[in-house]
Amino acid sequence: MRATGPEGPLAAIARRLARAEASVCLTGAGVSAESGIPTFRDAATGLWSRFDPEQLASVDGFRNNPNLVWRWYRERVQAVQDARPNPGHIALARLARSLEGFTTVTQNVDDLHERAGSADVVHLHGRLTAYRCLECGTPVQLDLAQRLAAEPPVCAACAGLIRPGVVWFGELLDANLWEQAYAACQQADVMLVVGTSGLVWPAAELPLLARRAGAHVVEVNPEDTELTGWADTCVRGRSGEILPLLADQVERIVS
Ligand code: OAD
Repeated sequence: MRATGPEGPLAAIARRLARAEASVCLTGAGVSAESGIPTFRDAATGLWSRFDPEQLASVDGFRNNPNLVWRWYRERVQAVQDARPNPGHIALARLARSLEGFTTVTQNVDDLHERAGSADVVHLHGRLTAYRCLECGTPVQLDLAQRLAAEPPVCAACAGLIRPGVVWFGELLDANLWEQAYAACQQADVMLVVGTSGLVWPAAELPLLARRAGAHVVEVNPEDTELTGWADTCVRGRSGEILPLLADQVERIVS
């Protein structure tokens, strides 16, 4: 069911958010698109339409050609370093400040939510710069020069290669992060689903879990997705345009 009426859907969503005891937002690559970070599945600009995920985003790919994979992620690190949070990220940070019990769960490996002011973001697919040893798993802090080096550094403990802290194909999500995301969806009265194609599981299951637990699910995306059929309300448009309007309405209600 889609919200209708003279006020449009945003006013109704804002009222739901303002009276919710808890709410959650799941974001995907679309929320960072307006910061110039390419999404994965856009037919023209998406990363996976131009690069082979098996080669670049898997343990086997890294073992086969560590320098190639490292340099590909080095470009991602540089792109994020050069990017700025966009109005969508900033609006989500405003919502988190205005609302009680607002949890941000992201599939994105960039830090643009944090740089926009969101705290305690649940990074389901890891973080680009949470490096660790491929072999022994020891976490490693790298400075910018090391992150942008031509080859992966080696682990001081076991001489294994250092890898980016992202979840690669075939790897399990961190159980603790999944628990946090799951709990937020179980408790939420409203769930915003922003800028994700809903094609990658188990993240794509979260809106279904939230809805089954009673949440009103709102999709914000310029296009229909796999999750559209599960949404109670769909708002078609870019997150950088829609979310600031929503944050304005919420702030008007709660202030
Ligand atoms: P996708 O590239 O699959 O989907 C991006 C979504 O963002 C699409 O539905 C677009 O319509 C939408 N979009 C584009 N521009 C937008 C904008 N300005 N505002 C709002 N939405 C916009 O990206 P994800 O769903 O995030 O996994 O992909 C999920 C996972 O697949 C990623 O986390 C990554 C990838 O493989 C890992 O790295 C493990």
